[in-house]
Amino acid sequence: MLNEKEKLEEIIRLGNEVTEIKDLDLLLEKILSKAREIVRADAGSIYVRDEDRLNFTHSQNETLSKKLPPGKKLIYTTFSLPINNNSIAGYVANTGKILNIPDVYELSDDVPYGFSKSFDQLANYRSKSMLTVPFKTSRGDIVGVLQMINAQDERGTIIPFAPGDEPLVAHFANDAAIALERAQMTRAIILRMISMAELRDPKETGAHVNRVAGYSVEIYENWAKRKMISQRTIDDKRDVLRMAAMLHDVGKVAISDLILKKPARLTDEEFQKMKTHTFLGAKLFANPKSDFDEAAAEVALNHHERWDGKGYPGFIDLSTGDPLSGYEIEAGRPRPKKGEEIPLFGRIVALADVYDALSSSRCYKEPWDEGKVLGIITEEAGKHFDPEMVEVFFSCLEVIQNIRNRYLG
Ligand code: C2E
Ligand code: SIN
Ligand code: SIN
Ligand code: SIN
Ligand code: FE
Ligand code: FE
Repeated sequence: MLNEKEKLEEIIRLGNEVTEIKDLDLLLEKILSKAREIVRADAGSIYVRDEDRLNFTHSQNETLSKKLPPGKKLIYTTFSLPINNNSIAGYVANTGKILNIPDVYELSDDVPYGFSKSFDQLANYRSKSMLTVPFKTSRGDIVGVLQMINAQDERGTIIPFAPGDEPLVAHFANDAAIALERAQMTRAIILRMISMAELRDPKETGAHVNRVAGYSVEIYENWAKRKMISQRTIDDKRDVLRMAAMLHDVGKVAISDLILKKPARLTDEEFQKMKTHTFLGAKLFANPKSDFDEAAAEVALNHHERWDGKGYPGFIDLSTGDPLSGYEIEAGRPRPKKGEEIPLFGRIVALADVYDALSSSRCYKEPWDEGKVLGIITEEAGKHFDPEMVEVFFSCLEVIQNIRNRYLG
């Protein structure tokens, strides 16, 4: 059995592994542009596997980009294809073979795949030569597809891809496979951290963590729509917030079982120890290297702050747990954050966490009925909670109740 200190060390070690992984999106974008440069492709796309489908995730098109006003970016709709032999990308993902096609509008009758012209028609573009290569991991799993479109000669005339281009593009596909594999490992590490945190609290199984994450994402989406935040930003932040919310209490691994599992009210002294779970959790993601680390630290640190400035842990130095200089109040205690000093994700998870804690059973309490819980949330608007967040919460209450029924503990 690991003792408390060893558990924390283990989780810090895992946290460090997580922070070593750089932004996957940027990496794939770079791989795509380098591959295009090397084989002189006018356009290119990346598809990433999600179970039995391919998601169209990245796309570049020189000709279309040039037609846009300066500073404007191409906007692609995202779509997905089933992994089967009916499409070019699907065939490559399904069979693991490279396809080098001189003209996708002139496919021979004996191939199983067809080319769908709908994207071309929408964009007013003519795809002709196409080189499509699978991303294969070291274990031989296919995790995506790299597609080069319209090779050009020196004069810019569209030509077929040379057979010699195939191993070059395969090399970039290999880089992408490694990056994707690493990101999947990151995800696996995060899930391990979540389950370690849950192990500490057998009464609060995956269900609690999933519910708090579900409510938080729903509240964020509705809040962001009110603020006219773009769908793209919402989509990006949603996944990051989901993971971060799942880890809001990860710092509880450092709290002794005597306190954590006490079937009665905590003494003052015990509660002081309990409060450290906020910044101990945030420390795991200090020195953020990705959006995920930043969000996870923000949530762990701030989910017990209160809108009226009576929460905890306040403005503290993560490395020492002491007040940040200039924010000290009585007896060496840090001043709590208030209002919009509390970062957005902290304000959201605070509400999601309390709603869930009150409506579930805990080792120290029975669940409360829904009416009483909603009464408290209404009452606490502007006190414990950001009043706008409470408004948003009630505007999507039905969805929230749905999420609760989906993850009954
Ligand atoms: P938690 O169980 O996830 O609860 C999260 C928050 O929900 C609490 O933050 C509190 O704001 C609210 N909450 C939960 N249950 C109740 C309740 O019965 N009455 C009221 N008024 N509010 C409630 P808080 O208070 O900062 O506690 C943080 C964590 O400390 C809790 O997380 C729980 O793990 C632990 N804890 C708090 N009080 C007790 C206790 O009396 N006994 C034990 N064993 N643990 C406690
Ligand atoms: C990252 O750390 O950059 C990505 C984490 C993830 O896999 O979502
Ligand atoms: C492909 O099949 O590789 C591209 C998707 C399409 O059919 O347009
Ligand atoms: C809180 O807002 O502190 C939790 C609900 C309550 O005050 O009873
Ligand atoms: Fe907490
Ligand atoms: Fe919690």
